[in-house]
Amino acid sequence: MQTLAKLFEPGRIGTMEVKNRIILAPLGNGFLFATKPGGYLTDRHLAFYEARAKGGVGMIQLSVSALGRPYATGLVFGPGLLSIVDDDHIASARKFTDAIHAHGTKVTFQITHHGAVIARSVAQRPPVEYPELMRVVAPTGKRDILTGFETHSLTIDEIEGIIEAFGQAARRGKAAGFDAVRIQGCHGYLIHQFLSPRTNQRTDEYGGSIENRCRFACEVTRRVREEVGPDYPIIFRMNGDDFLEGGITLEDAVQHGRFFVEAGADALDVSSGPFETHHWQFPGMQQPFAPLARLAGTIKKAVAVPIITAGKIDALNGERILKEGSADFIQMARALMADAELPNKAREGRLLDIRPCIYCGHCQNPAHRAEDGAAQCTVNLALGRELEYEVEPADRRKKVVVIGGGTAGMEAARTLAERGHEVSLHEEADHMGGQWNVLAAYRPEVDTLLRYQERGLEQAGVEVRLNHKLTADDVREMAPDAVVVATGARPASLDVPGVDGPNVVQAIEVLEESVVVGQEVVIIGGRLVGLDTALFLAERGKSVSIISRSKIARGVDHNLKLALMEKLIAHGVRLYPNTVPDSITERGVNAWWDSGEPPAKDHVFVFFKADTVVLAVGARSDDGLTEALSGLAPEVYTIGDAAGVRDVFDAIHEGADVGRRI
Ligand SMILES: Cc1cc2nc3c(=O)[nH]c(=O)nc-3n(C[C@H](O)[C@H](O)[C@H](O)COP(=O)(O)OP(=O)(O)OC[C@H]3O[C@@H](n4cnc5c(N)ncnc54)[C@H](O)[C@@H]3O)c2cc1C
Ligand SMILES: Cc1cc2nc3c(=O)[nH]c(=O)nc-3n(C[C@H](O)[C@H](O)[C@H](O)COP(=O)(O)O)c2cc1C
Ligand code: SF4
Repeated sequence: MQTLAKLFEPGRIGTMEVKNRIILAPLGNGFLFATKPGGYLTDRHLAFYEARAKGGVGMIQLSVSALGRPYATGLVFGPGLLSIVDDDHIASARKFTDAIHAHGTKVTFQITHHGAVIARSVAQRPPVEYPELMRVVAPTGKRDILTGFETHSLTIDEIEGIIEAFGQAARRGKAAGFDAVRIQGCHGYLIHQFLSPRTNQRTDEYGGSIENRCRFACEVTRRVREEVGPDYPIIFRMNGDDFLEGGITLEDAVQHGRFFVEAGADALDVSSGPFETHHWQFPGMQQPFAPLARLAGTIKKAVAVPIITAGKIDALNGERILKEGSADFIQMARALMADAELPNKAREGRLLDIRPCIYCGHCQNPAHRAEDGAAQCTVNLALGRELEYEVEPADRRKKVVVIGGGTAGMEAARTLAERGHEVSLHEEADHMGGQWNVLAAYRPEVDTLLRYQERGLEQAGVEVRLNHKLTADDVREMAPDAVVVATGARPASLDVPGVDGPNVVQAIEVLEESVVVGQEVVIIGGRLVGLDTALFLAERGKSVSIISRSKIARGVDHNLKLALMEKLIAHGVRLYPNTVPDSITERGVNAWWDSGEPPAKDHVFVFFKADTVVLAVGARSDDGLTEALSGLAPEVYTIGDAAGVRDVFDAIHEGADVGRRI
C-alpha cells in the first residue's frame, strides 16, 4: 500500500489551520445551474460541495458572485453562482459555510470582477435583468475583435468605486462565515487585465511600469485587508506566466507576488491562462501533469507566504510536488469532479480505487452539457446529480451477456454486476480497452481509466472472457435474458483511387506502431485522431501535412484544440483545411483545395508529395451483431460506438445507463 503522507499533513494560511494539503479549486462557469434563480443556496449546489467535503478535502475555494451592483459581473458571467452581492444573501451563504464546516473543511470565497472578458457573454446574452452590466469595462477600452463590442476605459472614480466594492464584498463574505477571502487576479479578468502589458496601455498611475500595473491589485488587497481586519486570511490568485506573447512572464509574476504579499496577501495561488491560452489554465490530455508547479516553485522562493499550485494534479503528483517543496498546498478541480472521494481514498492508500480524471475536456464542452446547462463528467455520472444518482439493486437477477470489452462494455458490465446480475463480458482481443487502448499506447497516463474499469469488473465479480469473437450462435447457446452489444467501431476508409496502395495506412496502425512510416507524410483527416497522429509523427521527426475536407479540429474541445495547435505549429505541421482528396498515387495525394473565393467556390487542384499516406477519416460502427441477435434474447441493447461513432463520454454514459436499466 502506497502512503501519501505529505498530502495529509495539516497546513496553515495566515491564522487558518487546514486539516490537509488538498484544496478543491474554484468552479464557476460550468455549474451555472446550481443556485438558480437568485443566487440563493439550493440543495443541489450544497450536495456537490458536501460530497467533496465528506470526501476529505481540506479546503474548498468557492467561486461566488461577490461584487455588489453595478459591478456584479458574476451575475452575467456565471449566473447561478452562490451570491453574496448584497446583505440579503448573507444568511443563505451562511447555511453553506455552516454545512461545510460540519465536515471539518475550511471554505473560502473568491471575489472576481470579470472585466472585458464578459464582452462575449454580454454580446451573446444581453443581461436584461442587469442592464447596467452592458457597460463592459477594462483598464484600456477597445473594440473586441471577435464581437465588435466596445469596452470602456475605467476612469479613476470608477476604479475607486470597484476597489470599494471589493472591500464591501469581503465584508459580506466574512459575515457569511467563510474562513478566508480570495482575490481573483488571474485568468484574464479585470485585475489581470491591469497587470498585463497586453491589456493595460494606460498612461496614468495605473499603467506603464510594473509597479503601476500592480497598483490596482494592491489597492484592492489593501482595501480588503482594512475591511476584514489583520487576522483574516487573504489569498491572492495570480498567473505565474501567461504563456502569451506580450503577456505576463514568470519574471514579472515573481515581482507581482512580492507586491501582493506586501499589500497584505497571506498566500499566493499560482495559476495560468487568460482566454487566449486557456489550455494552461486547464491543462488537457496532450499536456504533462502539473505543468504549473514549476511556476509556483519559482514564486515560492521569492516570498515568505504559503503557495498553492493548480493544474492537472492527481494524488501522486500532488505528493511529489509537496515533497519537492514547489508548493505548500495542491489544488484540484477536475480530479475532484471525477471523484469526490479522492482524498479519502488517497489517505487510505487505495489509489487504484480513485476514479481518474482523464483530462478529456468534456466537462467544459457545450456539446456535453445536460439539458439544464450543467457540466457533465465523462467518468463520474453523479457529477452535479449527487442527490439523485444511485445504482439500485435489480428487482430480478438476470443472466446478461456483454459483447465488447471497450469503455462502453466495461462500464455496462460493472454496473450490471454491481446491481446483482450474473454478467459475462466477452472480448475478441487478448486485452480489454478497445479503441481507448490505442490512445493509451502513446499517451500512457490515460491508461488509468482502463485500469480503473478493469478493477471495477474484478470487484463486481464480472466473468471476463478474452480472445474470442462472440457470434450469434454463441449467444443462442448461452440463452441469456439480456445482451448488450458494445462492439465499438473500426476505422473507416475512403472511396478514392489508390486508397488500397501499399503506401496507405490507417492512423491507428501508426499510433500502435504496427506499420513503417516514411519521412514525408500526408494525413487525410483533420479531426482529433488526425491531429493526434500528426503530432505523434512530428514528435518523431517526420515531415507532416494534414489535409481536411472541412475545418481543422472540428468538434474538438476548445482547450484541447489550443494545446494541439500550439504543438502542431511548434513542430511545423502544415494544415490544409477545405481540401478534398481526389486520388492517391505511389508518390502522394492529388487534392482539390477550396480557396473559398465567392461567388463560386474556387477549387484549385494541388499535389501533396508523400512517402506514406495516413487515413484518419473517422470510424464506422461495428453493429452487425445487433441485427443478428434480434429475437435471440428477450432484451438486446446496443451502446457506445456500436450505436453510432462518438467518443468516450457517450460510451461510458451509455454503458452506465444500460447498466442501470436492465
Ligand atoms: C486514436 C484514438 C484516439 C481517441 N481519442 C479520443 C479522445 O481523446 N477523447 C474521446 O472522447 N474519444 C477518443 N477516441 C474515441 C473513443 O476511444 C471511443 O469513442 C470509445 O472508446 C468507444 O468505446 P466503445 O466501447 O464503444 O468501443 P470500442 O472501444 O471500439 O470497443 C469495442 C470492443 O469490442 C470488441 N469486439 C468487437 N466485436 C466483438 C465480438 N464479436 N466479440 C467480442 N468482442 C468484440 C473489440 O475488439 C473492442 O475491444 C479516440 C479513438 C481513437 C481510436
Ligand atoms: C468547470 C470549471 C469551472 C472553473 N471556474 C473557475 C472560477 O470560477 N474561477 C477560477 O479562478 N477558476 C476556475 N476554474 C479553474 C480551476 O479553479 C483550476 O484552476 C483549473 O481547472 C485547473 O485545475 P484542474 O487541472 O485540477 O482542473 C474552473 C475550472 C473548471 C473545470
Ligand atoms: S469530463 Fe473529463 S476532464 Fe472533465 S472532470 Fe470528467 S474526466 Fe476530467
